[in-house]
Amino acid sequence: MEEKKIVLSGMRPTGPLHIGHLFGALKNWKKLQDEGNNCFYMIADWHALSTEYRCPENIRKNVEEIAIDLLVSGLDPEKSTIFIQSLVPEHVELHLIFSMFVPIPWLERNPVYKEQIKELKEKELNTYGFLGYPVLQAADILIYKANYVPIGVDQLPHLELTREIARRFNYLYRNIFPIPEPLLTETPKIPGIDGRKMSKSYNNCIFIGEEPDSIRNKIKNMFTDPKRIYRKDPGHPDTCPVFVYQQIFNTQSADEIKNSCLNAKIGCTDCKKIVAEKLVEFLQPFYKKRKEIENNRKDLWEILTEGSKKARQMAKKTLDEVKEAIRMDYGEKD
Ligand code: TRP
Ligand code: SF4
Repeated sequence: MEEKKIVLSGMRPTGPLHIGHLFGALKNWKKLQDEGNNCFYMIADWHALSTEYRCPENIRKNVEEIAIDLLVSGLDPEKSTIFIQSLVPEHVELHLIFSMFVPIPWLERNPVYKEQIKELKEKELNTYGFLGYPVLQAADILIYKANYVPIGVDQLPHLELTREIARRFNYLYRNIFPIPEPLLTETPKIPGIDGRKMSKSYNNCIFIGEEPDSIRNKIKNMFTDPKRIYRKDPGHPDTCPVFVYQQIFNTQSADEIKNSCLNAKIGCTDCKKIVAEKLVEFLQPFYKKRKEIENNRKDLWEILTEGSKKARQMAKKTLDEVKEAIRMDYGEKD
């Protein structure tokens, strides 16, 4: 990207971030920041409430945790605007305005919605707010007139809806919103410790802030090549999740390990020990930064409130334009 663009993305504060997030989203967020784009990174607490409305008391703690994870992963509040969604109430107002003209069938046919309603039955998601989840997401994106939205493929249907909502607004009232583009992360997928996709709901994650001993223990219990039953059997590194970790965290020796595995010269226990140490070593700078931030929560909240104030200035400007376009601007306000 040559030109400075407006970038927006968000994370739901439903738990600490794991190394899948680090390689999936956060690396990309940092890259966009370091390329000099105008980046807005949001902690989407309203979106968390849409599924966690039964126990909202965890959201606040998670907001803080995620904020720390974002900073630890290299997001720099001097370069990016890091903010909390609910501290910018203009999102809610724009969401309401959009809700007036978004046809319900657009929302009902959203594949993410259909899947989640089925998968998360115990959460009782047949609510008004959850159906409107992508409308709020569209408000998040469009209120900053974002050009680019770095997301994972799972969020593509939501971005498609955002684009449709932008087009519909532009057509009905006035051409205010640029049509945002997704930026997909082309990263190696880091499997969870059971070989499936790393995800909190599978309980197979290694967290960015996880203690070294806990990491060693998780790796020790990790799934390996299912066809390798005895130490003397040759392994199949290409179908072993531990080997994916070797490739990412032990790049230099991965080829050697691959050969040793194929020839049964290395056992899985040793292979895991090696990669666990590499991963712990990789996370060292993250631990250090976390300590610094955790010892100074006041600064953390200052970053978040300052970021939210900055985001709010931009959000207010767009909302004023929107209200003018729908002829609901009643002159001077505070
Ligand atoms: N729905 C996104 C997720 O679950 C989080 C999110 C909320 C978001 N608002 C956003 C992502 C705006 C990108 C842009 O991951
Ligand atoms: Fe997997 Fe390593 Fe065991 Fe080979 S030696 S099967 S790469 S854990």
